[in-house]
Amino acid sequence: VFRIPSVVIVDLQFGDSGKGKIVDYLGDHADVVVRFQGGHNAGHTVVADGKTFKLHLLPSGVVRGKRVLIGNGVVVEPKHLLKEIAELRAQGLNVDVGVSERAHVILEKHVAADDPHGKIGTTRRGIGPAYSDKHSRHGLRIIDLLDEGALREKVGNGWESYLEAGHALSPFFADVSAELNDALDAGKVVLLEGAQGTLLDIDHGTYPFVTSSNCTAGAACTGTGISPKRVDRIIGVAKAYTTRVGSGPFPTELSDGIGEKIRERGHEFGTTTGRPRRCGWFDAVQVNYSRRVNGIDELAITKLDILDGIDPLRVCVAYDWHGKRLAAFPSSVKVLEDCKPVFEDFAGWPETDWSRVKTWESMPQQARHYVEELSRLCHVPITMVGIGPSREQTISVPQAAMLRAR
Ligand code: IMP
Repeated sequence: VFRIPSVVIVDLQFGDSGKGKIVDYLGDHADVVVRFQGGHNAGHTVVADGKTFKLHLLPSGVVRGKRVLIGNGVVVEPKHLLKEIAELRAQGLNVDVGVSERAHVILEKHVAADDPHGKIGTTRRGIGPAYSDKHSRHGLRIIDLLDEGALREKVGNGWESYLEAGHALSPFFADVSAELNDALDAGKVVLLEGAQGTLLDIDHGTYPFVTSSNCTAGAACTGTGISPKRVDRIIGVAKAYTTRVGSGPFPTELSDGIGEKIRERGHEFGTTTGRPRRCGWFDAVQVNYSRRVNGIDELAITKLDILDGIDPLRVCVAYDWHGKRLAAFPSSVKVLEDCKPVFEDFAGWPETDWSRVKTWESMPQQARHYVEELSRLCHVPITMVGIGPSREQTISVPQAAMLRAR
């Protein structure tokens, strides 16, 4: 992975898979890290050198002191961006960020119009309304923050504060497409970091219980201005179980003590909104679907350690819909709501002191078996396994083990 010039990282579930940690792990080898969609609805927690950084809009690479970019596909709340930069600087980070002049701006009116009745359970950051204005061609772009006429017209009262934010942000304005293409021409390594997840994608997710952008690998090109021909590798990230925050169907959801245990152990509360996340078993039907939509080359499994002491572990391998077995992920949320998971069970492992685990071989045998089975069920090699929050707690999986499993 490390010598590959451009790598896209996407979440294969409902977001919160721990992409930030995987980007951070790979980020050591990258020169530039870029975000291509979403906005400050995202939340990444990165633990590095004993410090915890909470990121919403900036790519995780910022924690490594990398050049980070916000692509045209992102929607940016300018005052939030200034605040996030200031807070990270106050934590001692050197923030080197460029924001696309073509990215669209989230305004206060977008926040006010976001999911007023709570039907979708959005993060209420104005994401959907900002994308609506973009697509109906009423939007305000980052470059327009310096255009008094445009601000007066599109913001109305209070436009002055946006002009002020525009001036404060102007040193960060960038031509992200030009910069990325130049970086790739110069042989630099670029990481393209997705936000949210495949099942929240506006086209491929559980519509209408989705976010308002494409969260899948194709958006890495449209959201930054690089050609699909320039993407060399696509890495999918999935948790060893499933979580979802907000409304929408979730066939493997656990409403019992096991779900509660996962939520507590996994700290499954939203980084952006603090809402408790719904928790459930790993769903191989979903992840297989996401593998195909994104065309991933490899899979990283995160938070395996959270499953300590749960026995058996269940994995959904198909859906039962009114007595009919569905192996494919349905397009209708009504169908999905009526689907009952068909499980395969695997042996769990006892409570483990993961701080002592440094290699694949030293993982509990049942944990290795579980990972091998996930690889078999998802038809893709698993190359990395997360076993704890810190940067070092990511195990590389020897590919011989994966070959045996598949
Ligand atoms: P929005 O993106 O705020 O419009 O919310 C739409 C849906 O996506 C809601 O179900 C949110 O909970 C969910 N969502 C948005 N961002 C994230 C994220 O970063 N992680 C997980 N869920 C998210």
